[in-house]
Amino acid sequence: MSCSLHLLRPVGRAHRARLEQLTRGAGLFRPEEVATAVELLDESLAGDDDYRFVGAFDGDQLIGYACWGPTPGTVATSDLYWIVVDRGCQRSGVGSQLLKDVEGRLTADGRRLVVVETSSRDDYDATRKFYEARGYTRAATIPGYYAPGDDLVIYTKDLTPGDLARTAP
Ligand SMILES: CC(C)(COP(=O)(O)OP(=O)(O)OC[C@H]1O[C@@H](n2cnc3c(N)ncnc32)[C@H](O)[C@@H]1OP(=O)(O)O)[C@@H](O)C(=O)NCCC(=O)NCCS
Repeated sequence: MSCSLHLLRPVGRAHRARLEQLTRGAGLFRPEEVATAVELLDESLAGDDDYRFVGAFDGDQLIGYACWGPTPGTVATSDLYWIVVDRGCQRSGVGSQLLKDVEGRLTADGRRLVVVETSSRDDYDATRKFYEARGYTRAATIPGYYAPGDDLVIYTKDLTPGDLARTAP
């Protein structure tokens, strides 16, 4: 498997099992969280625009993906629901390429703000470093949200620098 030469393209039904495998293989997610990622892919493939996927491929092999969608009840805020890179390909720039692609699509669609939820656990240290390296700001923490000692950490990125504080119409 090559981690350096890859193309980004939609994730299809043929990659469903591989998406499940690489999400489980990340070693971070509970079985019900892995199932949720697959369910979101199913909804997306069924035509639900609330969940959009892009994959990074080595040939036909899915080596990473991102899933995002509009945040309900907001004016042009979007959630990044999932971003996962095959363990053997992490730290090779694949996650950055996926994130850049998602942000480019969001900007082109006139979206303003990206929100990402993650965990304060030590095993999410690399994940938090990744978001911080990619210009995300730690905007809020909810202590004990997931479990005692496991906080919800919310990162945001302003896609329209300076405009977020503008008075609402
Ligand atoms: C988070 C994740 C998607 C990042 O993808 P990636 O392809 O490994 O990231 P990149 O190679 O593009 O890294 C970009 C930068 O992030 C930071 N970073 C990434 N992994 C890091 C690590 N293990 N330790 C420290 N910094 C790290 C670095 O600044 C890195 O740049 P550098 O390698 O030039 O120093 C990937 O590690 C992953 O799939 N993790 C498990 C799943 C997960 O946590 N998903 C998010 C759920 S909220």
